Amino acid sequence: MAKRTIRSLGFLFQVAVLSSALPITLTKGADRATVSWVWSGAVTTDSAVVKARVQPGIKTARLLVDTAASFKNSVRFPPSGYSEPDPDGVATFRLSNLNPDTVYHYSVEVEGERRLTGKLHTFAEGPMSFRIAFASCATTGSNHEIFSTIQDLNPLFFLHMGDFHYENISKNDPALFQDAFEKVLHSQRQSSLYRSAPIVYIWDDHDYGPNDSDRTAAGKPAASKVYRQYVPHYPLSRARNKLGTIQQAFTVGRVRFVLTDGRSERDPTDDPDGPNKSMLGEEQRNWLFEELASTRDYSLVVWVNVVPWITKSQPGSDIGWEPFGYERRLIADRIKRNGLVNRMLILSGDGHMVAIDDGSNSDYSSDGKAGEQAFPVVHGAPLDRFPRVKGGPYSHGVAARRGVSRLFGIVKEQQFGFMELTDNGQVITVELSGRNAEGELLKGMLLRMRCDSEGCTVVN
Ligand SMILES: [Fe+2]
Repeated sequence: MAKRTIRSLGFLFQVAVLSSALPITLTKGADRATVSWVWSGAVTTDSAVVKARVQPGIKTARLLVDTAASFKNSVRFPPSGYSEPDPDGVATFRLSNLNPDTVYHYSVEVEGERRLTGKLHTFAEGPMSFRIAFASCATTGSNHEIFSTIQDLNPLFFLHMGDFHYENISKNDPALFQDAFEKVLHSQRQSSLYRSAPIVYIWDDHDYGPNDSDRTAAGKPAASKVYRQYVPHYPLSRARNKLGTIQQAFTVGRVRFVLTDGRSERDPTDDPDGPNKSMLGEEQRNWLFEELASTRDYSLVVWVNVVPWITKSQPGSDIGWEPFGYERRLIADRIKRNGLVNRMLILSGDGHMVAIDDGSNSDYSSDGKAGEQAFPVVHGAPLDRFPRVKGGPYSHGVAARRGVSRLFGIVKEQQFGFMELTDNGQVITVELSGRNAEGELLKGMLLRMRCDSEGCTVVN
């Protein structure tokens, strides 16, 4: 009873804080009524995808794209004519023939009026220096100031590693997944962030299905369908398998990003571990192996692997990769065989914590010796959820609120990861940090890497 009262007070406090918060970007009511949201993604050196939702009944829309915010010399997409929104009002614009390393403003035009506006930055051809924010886990529709903090850091893109919402949908009903997206994209601060920088988004359990969900989730077809409808994503592999896993890969400068879907083909956690148990599913795992084999030309490979890779501190638990030890070893061996151990980095969410390991604890290869150094692993979470530590140990430790606030579950925590990469064409330096809601460095949560033709080393 006491716990419930404290929870209620906590909730009322949050409502009061949220309702007093001013939106970072004011949008005219008429604009928002006609075009309720817009966001971009799938950016390359010369292309991008923009998705927007227009008021039901509007039959045509187009996108104006310009290097200047005035839109005086804008180019239109589609180049000839208009795009027809789908029956739910979602319009998809495929931008092409863009110039590399260029900032573009875009605006959705309906009924002859420019409505919501956003921007994106195309990737450079050749070496590129850039900054990205990465994080996971936000209460559905959160309007916390952390999203404005991330926006103010002007990342090249925002990497969302799942738990985009906490609707825990357990029915195969697309409308429920659409509602969840609508709730998030109607958050003033989140939608402002998503208009200011492209999204790169891969789901985790709570936004794909219920807590700890796997391939047996009843809502899998609907989740897969609505992801494709709402999210501007990179081309999904294995297109013949229409509603298969949503893994993606893309290149920024000399860095390869590889994102895996750890949910929609995941075998149940309780299945016995061994060659027949998989978190990725055989098809996606083969795709990952192909990716790992073709990344020799990149200076650094960033594997966005959402759940905790390191679980040595919790043997036999159901945390992260621990119940999938056989497959983890297969992947670790493949990374080693491809010579990627010193050119790789894992970014993760899931655990509601910031945690950094410099590679001291991440080796899971068959012939790994005790204390063998592997690749860094960095967790960046939660955006706006209750703290929870998972996996480990982590060489640099963990940043997550502990004690009474955690015990009663009334105080949420807001944290994210930030990656600043500088490439002078010879040497790449990478700075990975954990930040608080104000964008300040979390104590001790900083790792530096230096990559050259010999590979990457952690720099103290
Ligand atoms: Fe989460």
